[in-house]
Amino acid sequence: MKIGVVGKGGVGKTTLSALLARSLADRGRRVLAVDTDSNPNLGLSLGLDPSATEALPTVPRSIVVGSRGDLTVGELMADYAAATPSGVTVMSALRVTEAAAGCTCGGHATVRSLLGEALDTETDDTIVDMEAGIEHLSRSGGTLAHADVLVLVMEPSLKAVITVRRTIALAHDLGIGAWVGVGNKVSDDQQDLLARLCTDHDVPLDVVIPASREVVEADRLGTPLGHGEAGGVWTAVESLTDRLLDRLRAPALQ
Ligand SMILES: Nc1ncnc2c1ncn2[C@@H]1O[C@H](COP(=O)(O)OP(=O)(O)OP(=O)(O)O)[C@@H](O)[C@H]1O
Ligand SMILES: [Mg+2]
Repeated sequence: MKIGVVGKGGVGKTTLSALLARSLADRGRRVLAVDTDSNPNLGLSLGLDPSATEALPTVPRSIVVGSRGDLTVGELMADYAAATPSGVTVMSALRVTEAAAGCTCGGHATVRSLLGEALDTETDDTIVDMEAGIEHLSRSGGTLAHADVLVLVMEPSLKAVITVRRTIALAHDLGIGAWVGVGNKVSDDQQDLLARLCTDHDVPLDVVIPASREVVEADRLGTPLGHGEAGGVWTAVESLTDRLLDRLRAPALQ
């Protein structure tokens, strides 16, 4: 599966990308997690320490991935991906390391070309943790144009839900065929609000991930979330994983 994790700034895309990647890896799948944040932190959430996260190589911009491109998928992963203690392989695709080096469009095009390839010789699932907002659905032909499914992350807020609404419109135009709506950081007293906002704006709400003190604490320390239940977070993540795998096994039904 090629999965794009998208949403408004701060809704939990990186947190959820790491948890979903770990959940898939724990089920024995080979998982590549692609960090497209220019200020990348996904490695930390997957168990790398700060120095190893800083040392991750950055994929060069504007290379075409594929058998007729600059690097094959295997070469790209050999040169630029790194194993993490979580069992997930991580790649930092858009890191900005130089001031005044220009825009990152070339890096987006590279990720687009990677997703356009058959990746199954190297990985079962590729999860792309997107930078905030929706521009990536328009720039460089749409970074996620070849994604199979989008995970649309939203907090219980009007702006987060509207961002998802706009994302769906662009995904539709790009021909992305499937998406899953995920509420994140949802406390018990905000469940009704989120459900109402989603109904009002015609946004699917398929999985609800609770607000969790443990998630905040792990993030503060820059460590991966422990395997304890964390207030129901893991149960919700497992149900998201089940949903995505069910879709993979029965695509005709979705
Ligand atoms: N389920 C949750 N419960 C409580 N806090 C959460 C939860 N998920 C994420 N957070 C917190 O929300 C904040 C933002 O999370 P994260 O960095 O994953 O968001 P993001 O969407 O990737 O942000 P950005 O747009 O900057 O990339 C962090 O402090 C994180 O700990
Ligand atoms: Mg992030």
